[in-house]
Amino acid sequence: MNILLIGSGGREHAIAWKLAQSPRLKKLFALPGNPGIGQLAENINDLSVDDHAGIIRFCRQEAIDLVIVGPEAPLANGLADSLAEAGIRCFGPRQAAAEIEASKVFSKHFMARHGIPTARYATFNKITDALQYLDGVDYPIVIKASGLAAGKGVILPDTKAEAETALREMLEGGVFGAAGTEVVIEERMSGPEVSLMAFTDGKTVVPMLPAQDHKRIYDGDQGPNTGGMGAYAPAPIFTTEMLEEAVDNLLKPAVSGLRLEGRPFVGVLYAGLMLTPDGIRVLEFNCRFGDPETQAVLPLLDTDLVEIAEACVDGRLREVEIRWNPGAAVCVVLASKGYPEKPETGYEIKLEALLGDVVCFHAGTKENDTGQLLTSGGRVFGLTTWSADLPSAVKNAYEKIRHIYFKDMQYRTDIAAKAVMGATYANSGVDIDAGNRAVALMKDAVRATYTPAVLAGIGSFGGLFDASALKDMANPVLVASTDGVGTKVKLAAMVGRFRGIGQDIVNHCINDILVQGARPLFFMDYFATSKLNPEQTAEVVIGIAEACRDAGLALLGGETAEMPGVYQPGEFDVAGTIVGVLERDNILPKTDALKAGDVLIGFRSSGPHTNGYSLIRKVFAETPLDKVFPEIGVPLAEALLAPHRSYFKLVYPQLATIKALAHLTGGGFIENIPRILPGHLDAVVRIGSWPVPPLWKVLQQKGNIALDEMYRVFNMGIGMLAVVDANAVTAFQASLPEETFVIGELASGQGKTRLVV
Ligand code: AMP
Ligand code: GLY
Repeated sequence: MNILLIGSGGREHAIAWKLAQSPRLKKLFALPGNPGIGQLAENINDLSVDDHAGIIRFCRQEAIDLVIVGPEAPLANGLADSLAEAGIRCFGPRQAAAEIEASKVFSKHFMARHGIPTARYATFNKITDALQYLDGVDYPIVIKASGLAAGKGVILPDTKAEAETALREMLEGGVFGAAGTEVVIEERMSGPEVSLMAFTDGKTVVPMLPAQDHKRIYDGDQGPNTGGMGAYAPAPIFTTEMLEEAVDNLLKPAVSGLRLEGRPFVGVLYAGLMLTPDGIRVLEFNCRFGDPETQAVLPLLDTDLVEIAEACVDGRLREVEIRWNPGAAVCVVLASKGYPEKPETGYEIKLEALLGDVVCFHAGTKENDTGQLLTSGGRVFGLTTWSADLPSAVKNAYEKIRHIYFKDMQYRTDIAAKAVMGATYANSGVDIDAGNRAVALMKDAVRATYTPAVLAGIGSFGGLFDASALKDMANPVLVASTDGVGTKVKLAAMVGRFRGIGQDIVNHCINDILVQGARPLFFMDYFATSKLNPEQTAEVVIGIAEACRDAGLALLGGETAEMPGVYQPGEFDVAGTIVGVLERDNILPKTDALKAGDVLIGFRSSGPHTNGYSLIRKVFAETPLDKVFPEIGVPLAEALLAPHRSYFKLVYPQLATIKALAHLTGGGFIENIPRILPGHLDAVVRIGSWPVPPLWKVLQQKGNIALDEMYRVFNMGIGMLAVVDANAVTAFQASLPEETFVIGELASGQGKTRLVV
């Protein structure tokens, strides 16, 4: 059978790679294809995808039996219709069915008509109506350009002003051209996202393995949205029950609804799902394979893709048994510097031979006249590996990256990390002894924090961290800090909540070096206990690993010590060391810049963080820890054990505006602020200038503690403060994603904290 594949990205390379495994394939052509696809197919360079007549002519000339369309645009343009009229079989829906992706307005109305659960919404083509609607909305929203906008047409505004700007840009400014002349405003939902694709012949629906995409450019889901920075499948978060529910309540009604409306859908129907607290909701439908999900899903497909595609086109999908290989696959996208805004391209690629269960799908590559491979797009490769389980697939993928080189390559280091952490913990065996079991439980969580700089971690005598990145800095300065969680561990042991303690120690250390202007590189932990309990130990270390992941630092090593007789039975202690780096010119505090009149900005704390627990435990010694004080509203244990906040993501991007930072840890306001003050300035802190959370009031009353003692021991609801020039305050506060408080100012004095009421 001769097949023509339309498209030129990583998705199409994955499709071509799968088709090439079919014994039924005689010859594969790709329009326009890419150099990777070119190794499997004949690329056609002298024909436009928009030239339907030309494509039909080509199909006749080359006796093409089946056309498979990768991207949405040709489908929305009616390529399948033109081919059908010419009697050429096409895997991919006709224009009318492709509307389910090409028009979000159609898609939302369609879901409403067929009772398919999705976010509530309204549609607009006039700015006045849209703004009027916006005025009446009291929940967070999402604004979507109705038409195809290459993944850029979805805006998640945080303020009404942002929403208004987005609406004006689409409806008046024409930023998305025709795609934005109509908009959908919908309720913003929350929850993990899953991509579920299904093969369909217009009647039968067969789901593929559920996958997860990683849309944001940076680790920890930070930064702007991209076309997708990586994916993995199957997604363990999506249970068999959820899969059944999604097929029965979302996919089947969509396929039968389209058929009933005279728009039968043949091809791949992609549902972007959100697992909300209220159930599974559809974010969007797409009329084609997802990218990069397809790169992770197709390697696990056992059944012949040619057979499936043909059965769909011929309306006999019911007859085909679709089988999947066990195990998991992961795709890590290797992107150009500047992606997604302005990718830098044209760089030489060095690609060594890759051995094993791995394939490097090409997306943005081209060959020059001499046959040298060059980067030519934002996403250059989708490096895909598969293995018996997800952790080993992930490990394998990251190991293989070093065989691929182009200038300023960027990629996320946390593809599938959350799933790896969850999967490992849940699946680890129960039949091994405590020590090995503890290590087994924590090993993958630790590994999931590894950045490419980690050369040796678990199991080595010393952790090795590649410091060559520091060569790009002008004057790198390393910052190190060691700390412990303190007596909070005793409370945690009493109520059996351990994960938060792991987060406490990491975040405490992150904040300690953040106030000197540093970004963390790696962390080492120490865990000591009377008797090793694997689950408890793993909980703490997983908490440590999670917090490390969140801030993008590696958990490079650690020590677990069993010391019966030193600690009381059931008790434990946690400590850790962090190492970070900063430019010498950026060391905080900028003491010379501090002056009277500078303003103190306070950032909220999540609770007592890691200080004052000796006093707290004394005050509440007789109080049951599950007691709910009405003012506090949650059980005491929960309020007291809330994990220490990391201020890294909030504050680090703002360091240029900040003259000094103080972490309000042990010693509270009275002792911590003077650590950043020169001898001729006082910090005037105005009590009452921020809302003190009720926990502190309960504590003060119950313990009968003097007010200044409270400010000496506790953070009183402010975990960190920044000193900012008075002129910069408004812009500074406006640029932060959460409410902050002006809590005082610097005044001439003697390097002390002055509390004023
Ligand atoms: P879409 O192209 O519709 O999938 O939107 C792109 C991304 O925007 C999704 O993957 C979500 O992360 C986010 N998004 C879209 N719609 C919503 C919604 N109603 N609530 C929350 N997030 C959304
Ligand atoms: N990965 C998202 C999409 O293919 O639309």
